[in-house]
Amino acid sequence: MSAQFADEVGENIRRLAEASDLPQKSLDWMMAVGATGKYPYNFSWLGRPIIQYPQDMVAMQELIWSIKPDLIIETGIAHGGSLVFSASTLALLDLGDAIATGNTIDPKASSRKALGIDIDIRAHNRVAIEAHPMASRIQMIEGSSVAPDTIAQVQEEVKNYRRILVCLDSNHTHDHVLAELEAYAPLVTKDSYCVEFDTLIEDMPEGSFPDRPWGKGDNPRTAVDAFLGKTNRFEVDTAMDAKLQISVAPGGYLKCVAD
Ligand SMILES: C[S@@+](CC[C@H](N)C(=O)[O-])C[C@H]1O[C@@H](n2cnc3c(N)ncnc32)[C@H](O)[C@@H]1O
Repeated sequence: MSAQFADEVGENIRRLAEASDLPQKSLDWMMAVGATGKYPYNFSWLGRPIIQYPQDMVAMQELIWSIKPDLIIETGIAHGGSLVFSASTLALLDLGDAIATGNTIDPKASSRKALGIDIDIRAHNRVAIEAHPMASRIQMIEGSSVAPDTIAQVQEEVKNYRRILVCLDSNHTHDHVLAELEAYAPLVTKDSYCVEFDTLIEDMPEGSFPDRPWGKGDNPRTAVDAFLGKTNRFEVDTAMDAKLQISVAPGGYLKCVAD
């Protein structure tokens, strides 16, 4: 990107950040589409259902391409769409490296991996993920993300990697997310990110999730606020929030600013 183009984009984002009426308009739009059904369920990535907004997928692609992690840790696998998304973007990093160096690559051999954790990996989802062309870059752990045994397995795994990005998208209660942040955010390497999904719940009206244990006052945003009160290692990427406008993770793109 030329310096002039980057300046233009920076200016766009600055103007968006200053448009104080836009967050409410974005929320109104998200509430309106949400009222028709489960809008984030409408999408798939390379054939696997992914429960995300397209804007957040683009944001994740930008982060992965710029950070170039060798390990992405994700809590919350569901159908595997976000895990395949991470693995496929890591595969593109491998391809980019091969093109840049002129080396040929074994498409199934990679030093990069997407590690997913879910308390309940449904058999049909596991079969489909393991049969996916990206499977060689995927590892799955079944167990609660906050169980000591799961955390110990992940801590063992990270010893093999140098640049680590974390995405948290499992149980959205305050206590669970805070426990996840305390377990997984320390694994994030400097200049990488810990992305906390569904912080938007805090902005939604009381009673929006009658069949869920989370809601206003008890959700990923309240957990992120509590976590940021205890650490100086992470800062909210407010420019990401401004440029996305439509996102389930406002205030959830946490940049790691210290070792
Ligand atoms: C919103 S879905 C994940 C969506 C996925 N990241 C995607 O974008 O397609 C949440 C997942 O979290 C899992 N989950 C719930 N509680 C959990 C826990 N304690 N530990 C790990 N995973 C959990 C659920 O089984 C479910 O598959």
